[in-house]
Amino acid sequence: MDILEIIEKKEKNEKLTKEELEFAVKGFLDGTIKDYQMSAFLTEIDLLGLSEEESIDLTNIMLNSGDKIKLDIKPLADKHSTGGVGDKTTLIVAPLVASLGVNVAKMSGRGLGHTGGTIDKLESIKGFKTEMTLKEFESQVKKIGIALVGQMGNLVPADKKIYALRDVTGTVDSIPLIASSVMSKKLASGADVIVLDLKVGGGALVENLEEAKELGGLMVKIGNMNGKNTACLLTNMDQPLGYAVGNSLEVLESIETLKGNGPEDLNELVIKLSSLMVSLSKNITLEEAKAKVKENLFNGKGYEKFEEWIEAQGGDIATLKVASKTKEIISKKEGYIKKIDALKIGKLARVLGAGRLTKEDIINHEVGILLNKKVGDKVSEGDRLLTVYYDDKEITDKEVLECFEITEEYVEKPNVIIDIIK
Ligand code: URA
Repeated sequence: MDILEIIEKKEKNEKLTKEELEFAVKGFLDGTIKDYQMSAFLTEIDLLGLSEEESIDLTNIMLNSGDKIKLDIKPLADKHSTGGVGDKTTLIVAPLVASLGVNVAKMSGRGLGHTGGTIDKLESIKGFKTEMTLKEFESQVKKIGIALVGQMGNLVPADKKIYALRDVTGTVDSIPLIASSVMSKKLASGADVIVLDLKVGGGALVENLEEAKELGGLMVKIGNMNGKNTACLLTNMDQPLGYAVGNSLEVLESIETLKGNGPEDLNELVIKLSSLMVSLSKNITLEEAKAKVKENLFNGKGYEKFEEWIEAQGGDIATLKVASKTKEIISKKEGYIKKIDALKIGKLARVLGAGRLTKEDIINHEVGILLNKKVGDKVSEGDRLLTVYYDDKEITDKEVLECFEITEEYVEKPNVIIDIIK
């Protein structure tokens, strides 16, 4: 077998065998297949797609490229978001379901580009430890039902290397490549229940609803075929989720949400994600699960679990700090908010220092953007649209105002949950 034959076969859109896919992935991982050859192969996959069978094979090949975590803990559930702006759901959902007896042993990532990462958000809390040994990780989950770390073990090394190449070759947005990347990592982390939050819209990896449905369907199929109870929500990422964008601001908003004071869209999404995790883990109906989730969201039990979790990992919530310099952006128009461009808001937060453009960039946890209005809200001239929390880097009023579209006609509030695939 050689890689040129495999690339040419794909070029003719002929179906690849598991051995051929394995040859490509293994060869790239051990260096016998070069970056330029793998880029050509990934580009063909991006252009022509893969069949369902090929996608499933690719996922399993990637899954078997490294360690797999096996914990002797049940029920064990995991969630995954494909990345958005203001997406702090893990900080709320993980302790909330743990407070209902559903264990969460989660590995999360850092943010890159305009999207944030859970690990960066948690590092806004001084002392919070994001690295643990497998033994410490397992014992914390056994003790309090929740642990969350950055990377652990050598999980799916094939994804690490392939993703880095996709990132610089314009092949990130391929449906089979996203499905195999996400699902190989979820399967390697060992949970029995997997709930996916696939963001759709301007601030997301996938903008088109039809493509999102295809990707969601494929990921659910891969999960279920591997014996995992899997569900996928398609959720709106045309505007930021909640009001806060930026690390400390988002942790503070998560705390408020766990105290029962969350914004409408964030509340709705965390209730749905948590209900799915609880219903699939405990084998109860979604309605029964939802009642339990709402109870612990509003009676403080979810927040108690959050405090217990943060303390167990060495964090001190009292240290959370936001930038002292602020600037209010005021509406110059009257009407209804039609659009708040999530992508632009995410990029502006990054300019302030809340995110990174390259992996080496250092984050300023205290800066960010706090929206005052959401799509569908009525505004008058002079109303505050948002507050910028900044330090050494600034953004202009004009740049911020360009994120907003305000019209005279009434605008309906959009639904955060678009669809569910089970
Ligand atoms: N998130 C991932 O982990 N992988 C992708 O390919 C896209 C989003």
